[in-house]
Amino acid sequence: MRNYLLIGGSRGIGAAVANILSAQGDEFTVISRSDPGSIAGLNQHIPRDVILDDLSDIDVGKSIDGLVYLPGTINLKPFRSLKTSDFEEDFKVNVLGAVKVLKTFFPHLKKGHLPSVVMYSTVAVNQGMPFHSSVASAKGAVEGLVKSLAAEWAPTIRVNGIAPSLTDTDLASRLLDTQVKKENAEQRHPLRRVGEASDIAAMTCFLLSEKSAWVSGQIIGVDGGLSTLKV
Ligand SMILES: NC(=O)c1ccc[n+]([C@@H]2O[C@H](COP(=O)([O-])OP(=O)(O)OC[C@H]3O[C@@H](n4cnc5c(N)ncnc54)[C@H](OP(=O)(O)O)[C@@H]3O)[C@@H](O)[C@H]2O)c1
Repeated sequence: MRNYLLIGGSRGIGAAVANILSAQGDEFTVISRSDPGSIAGLNQHIPRDVILDDLSDIDVGKSIDGLVYLPGTINLKPFRSLKTSDFEEDFKVNVLGAVKVLKTFFPHLKKGHLPSVVMYSTVAVNQGMPFHSSVASAKGAVEGLVKSLAAEWAPTIRVNGIAPSLTDTDLASRLLDTQVKKENAEQRHPLRRVGEASDIAAMTCFLLSEKSAWVSGQIIGVDGGLSTLKV
């Protein structure tokens, strides 16, 4: 049994991660603004906004075996319509929030058993896509953070990123809220569907687990083949 900290386990990919950990018999603490509800394995829910609130008083015990940072943004607009403040907001949620959380819980990770950190990029970092300039800039920084920390914290703490394509969660709901949008999105993917939260959660739980003990500093595409296949 391992003990994890999920920043955002209340909805979307984070809730799917919580379900898998629960089924595996692992334990976890969730920090999020809304309540994740009761689920086996949940040690405690700490209601907090990790961007706005102080985190220094949070008690997660002496050690954690892994941490997942889930807050993210999908702010898609033509470059001419994006304000500098949009770029700042995307950087704040995707990068600075992760930095704040990792600074806070680094001592706990260091004391964990084969500790592992997972963060999220997007398929739109490696494959240029129109209207993604703000989110792709922020997620590109997440990829840099993943690789830098993986190097700095080796061999003790593993750090990896997942680069999903469009996945059916609240965050992506505006991109999938009509049948036409959904079908167009499905057709864009070589595997002819959009992602489910469980697709990304399965990779997350692999990266958290001891099964991936020789994997660090990677950005793994879970994207229905979009980043690598032309069919
Ligand atoms: N869905 C996609 O299509 C897609 C594609 C590419 C990359 N990604 C990335 O994958 C990650 C997870 O995405 P998702 O679709 O699962 O997102 P989501 O549905 O918006 O869920 C995000 C989770 O983070 C928590 N959270 C957000 N802001 C927070 C804050 N300030 N303080 C504390 N908790 C916060 C939310 O809980 P509360 O609201 O309760 O606080 C929720 O549990 C993100 O980094 C996203 O950028 C997603």
